Parts: sequence; C-alpha cells; structure tokens
Amino acid sequence: MEDVKTTEISKTAKNAVWIADLSKHENESVCVQAWISNKRSGKGLFFLELRDGTGFCQSVMDLNNVGEEIFENCKQLTLSSSLRVFGKVVKDDRQIGGYEVQIDNIDIIQIVDNYPISNKEHGIEFLMEKRHLWLRSKRQWAIMRIRSRVKYAIHTFFQEKGFVQTDTPIFTGSACEGTTTLFETDYYGEPAYLSQSGQLYGEATAMALGKIYTFGPTFRAEKSKTRRHLSEFWMIEPEMAFYDLDMNMDLIEEFVRYIVTDIYEHYRFELEILERDLTLFENIGKEFPRITYDDAIKILKGDKDVEGKNAIKTLENDLVEVKAQIIECNKDIDEREAAIAAGGMKKGAINFNKNKIDVLKNKIKQLEEKERNIPQWLESAKNFKHGEDLGGSDETVITRLFSTPVMVYNWPKDIKAFYMKRNEENPDYVKGVDMLAPEGFGEIVGGAERETDHDLLVERIKAHDLPMEAFEWYLDLRKFGTVPHAGFGLGFERLIMWLTNVSHIRETIPFPRYYGRLFP
Ligand code: 4AD
Ligand code: MG
Repeated sequence: MEDVKTTEISKTAKNAVWIADLSKHENESVCVQAWISNKRSGKGLFFLELRDGTGFCQSVMDLNNVGEEIFENCKQLTLSSSLRVFGKVVKDDRQIGGYEVQIDNIDIIQIVDNYPISNKEHGIEFLMEKRHLWLRSKRQWAIMRIRSRVKYAIHTFFQEKGFVQTDTPIFTGSACEGTTTLFETDYYGEPAYLSQSGQLYGEATAMALGKIYTFGPTFRAEKSKTRRHLSEFWMIEPEMAFYDLDMNMDLIEEFVRYIVTDIYEHYRFELEILERDLTLFENIGKEFPRITYDDAIKILKGDKDVEGKNAIKTLENDLVEVKAQIIECNKDIDEREAAIAAGGMKKGAINFNKNKIDVLKNKIKQLEEKERNIPQWLESAKNFKHGEDLGGSDETVITRLFSTPVMVYNWPKDIKAFYMKRNEENPDYVKGVDMLAPEGFGEIVGGAERETDHDLLVERIKAHDLPMEAFEWYLDLRKFGTVPHAGFGLGFERLIMWLTNVSHIRETIPFPRYYGRLFP
C-alpha cells in the first residue's frame, strides 16, 4: 500500500474547497479533496461521484479536455479511492448538490483494492461487521447528519427556554428503572450499576436550578434482539419544579414539534436521500391526541376506532395486502431471470436486472417478516388483558392508526416505576405519560409527575423491593422543601429512528451496542 506525502497534502489543502461550499465558487477553478462514491464511464468520458464528508458532487472528465495521460490515470480509480480533483465548478441542477466539477486534472492519494461495500445490496449482518466503512454510504451519511442536527435543536430548544443542562453520574448505586436491566460493574470492590436514567439526580438538580435537562448515555441490559432496543443509548431528561402532568405533556408536545419542524426546514436534502415520507412533517402542527391507558387498550382491542380506522380490521387488511405484494415481487423476479436466461441482453442491462433482483429479494424478506408478524400482533392485541404493559407490537398496532404522535397517560401503578405520582381520584393509577410516535414507531418518550409525599414514596420503594439505603438521599428531596414536579425522558435513538424512518435502531448511532454486538 502506498503512503501519502503529508507535506504535499497540506500545501494543496490550503486552496481546496469543501463540497458543501461549492456554491460559493461557481465558475471558479478549485481543488476538491474527496473519495470516489460512484464511477461510470461513457465514450471518452468518466463520471466520478465524489464525497468529502460535507456532501456529494458529480465530476466529469472529458478525454478531449484532459488528454490521454490523465484519462488513462483515471481508469485505475475504484470505489472509495481517495484523490484530489482540480476543475471548474458549474451550476447544474440535475446533479446531486446542484453543482458539477469539470475536471482538468487529478492527483490520486490512494487507489483502493476491493472495497468491501459496493453500490449493490448487502446483507445487514455483513454491513454491521463493516460498520466503520458502512458509515460512508449515502444513507448512513444522511442519518448521522440528522442525528447531529437534532442534538443541536434539542440544546437550542431548552437553552432558549432557560433550562440549565446538568450532568448526572454514569456509575450509580441505585436502580431507577427496575432491576432487571442493570449492568453491574466493579467499583473499587463494591457493585455499581451503569446508569439506566439520570432522572433521580435530575430531580435533585431541578430542586437547585428550577428547570434542568440532562443529555447523557444510559445503559440497559436488554438480553433480546429487538428493532428498538440498544444496550447503550442516549437520553434527554428534562425535569421541572412546579410542573404537573398537564404542563409536562404540553412541554413534550412543544419539544417534539420543535425538533420535527427544525429537521423539516433545514435537512430536507437528507430526508430526500432517505426517501422519507413527508406526511409526518406536514402533520406535526396538529394537536397531539391525549388518551388514557384505558382508551388505548380499547383501541388496541378494536373496541374503539381512531379517525374511522379500526386496529383489528386494519391488520387483517394489511395481511392480505402483504401476501399480494410477495406474489407480485416473486413474479417480477421470475420475469427478470427469464429475460436474462433468454440471452442477447447487454452486459449493462444484465447487471441492472441482477441488482433489481437483489433489491426485490430484500424487499420480499421484509414483507415475509411482516407476514410472520401481523398474525402475532393480532393475537397479542386480541388477548391483551387490561392492566398489562403495552408491548412493542401493541404500540405498533395503536400508532399505525394515528397521523401525529399520541400521548397515553394515567397508567396502572403496578406496571410503572416507583417514583410516579398516584392519581388522587384512583390510587390504582399513576400520573405517568408515554408519547408514542405514529406510523407504528411506538414509545419515544416516557415521563411522569413525581410522587412528592415522603411516606408514600417509602411505601412504593418497599413495594418494588428496592433497597431503602440506596434511596436515602433521594428521600431527602421530599423532606426538605418538597414541591410538585415532573419530567420525562426522550430516547434519542428512538427519535432518530422515527425521523429517518429506519426500521432498526442500530442504524441511528455510529457504533451501536446491542445484545450480541461489541465490535466494531
Ligand atoms: O420509559 P423510560 O424507561 O423512562 C425513564 O427512564 C424515565 N426515568 C425518564 C424520565 O422520566 N426522566 O425510558 C425513556 C425513553 C423511552 O421512552 C425510550 O424512548 C428510550 O428511553 N429507551 C430506549 N431506547 C433505546 N434502547 C433501549 N433499550 C431503551 N429503553 C428506553
Ligand atoms: Mg417507558
């Protein structure tokens, strides 16, 4: 492998421009430092799609312009090879990013042999193994950019409202969200748990600073592979003194609407790359329905309709539709395979059809997964017993009926955390709220008004079999100036999953940690 002469790089880099800034250099001659993300050739022409991290752009090399030697040189370029391109920037709305570079010369930094990720379809396990390279692909690029922007929007939202960002410990001595998902570590000979949530500490800092939010990593040992659970994920947890459940729900709604609007206004190009249906963004101004747990169960079981849609009937229709689509895809594959086998097809057309077949096969896999899931969802919905917690599939069934996020509040106390405030009218219920994202995504936010009464809290800690010593400091908050307060936790990766419409949470974080994966 050939190494790079660094002094030369720094010399040229001074005059180089980033792809994101090409619009400022229209009709100028520039140097772009980039990798090849796609390459096509025509008669006496090469079309190199470049990416430099800030964006993508098309560049064209014309034999008549550059001459034999440079043109020959270009032939060696492969996917992900790195280079500098010198040429003129011209506006061209048909091209990605809206500009094209007409090449005068190139300076190759490294030619790559056998880049493992081609522009064809790959299996998901393979891509996860190559996550460090997969991040370079256009879809992943778009997801990571949205992730970064959402982080910015979250901080902006809270900072502008006068919230103070406070950090909470990662090593903790107590469980916040139940003892089944704790990761235990050795803390100088004592057991310590990786934080499941910063909430309890957030409550303490809210009593000192009024309105706070945390934004930190949280850990849960989720010993099963689901499409919405990570072992390590990031959570935003605002906590507000003098807030009740209604004010908490108002804030959740305003907050989520702010983020969705921000992405819609500023990251449209990324949403286009992801082929994100924009209906969600168009509907986000509508009020988010607030329904009780009891009503949510009625909807789930088909005893109550939403906007004229019935959960059970919708599922039954979907199953019919999925089966029809599978037949359709198989037919398409058969036709394409027969056309290839018949012979006489040009090489380009064969490759095109083969790739289409791979795409169709992947689509069938997804449809078959739905074909397996829907009967299970139906079963789970029909047999759901009042008082149980909503499972992932139940949330999917409910939220597919809604066009905006929906808030479910007033939960049975036995399925919720110890710190939630009891409902004065019916002490079997607590003032918790979950925000479920529409289109089948399900829970993104979990929050509550907090129990303020010292003795009731002691009772709840005992009922949950939690060690009292670990909560002594927390109980102090109820002894020394207890006030009504509330807060919530928003799962950052769940939010990104929903905004980008990816079907699995592992694509929403650069290097996901989930059951069975620690590398790369
Ligand atoms: O509903 P949860 O468990 O609530 C709490 O932790 C509260 N202490 C929050 C608070 O009131 N301050 O978790 C909050 C959110 C969920 O709604 C979900 O979006 C996300 O965190 N979440 C996960 N995301 C990815 N992987 C997991 N394993 C997750 N578990 C929860
Ligand atoms: Mg929850």
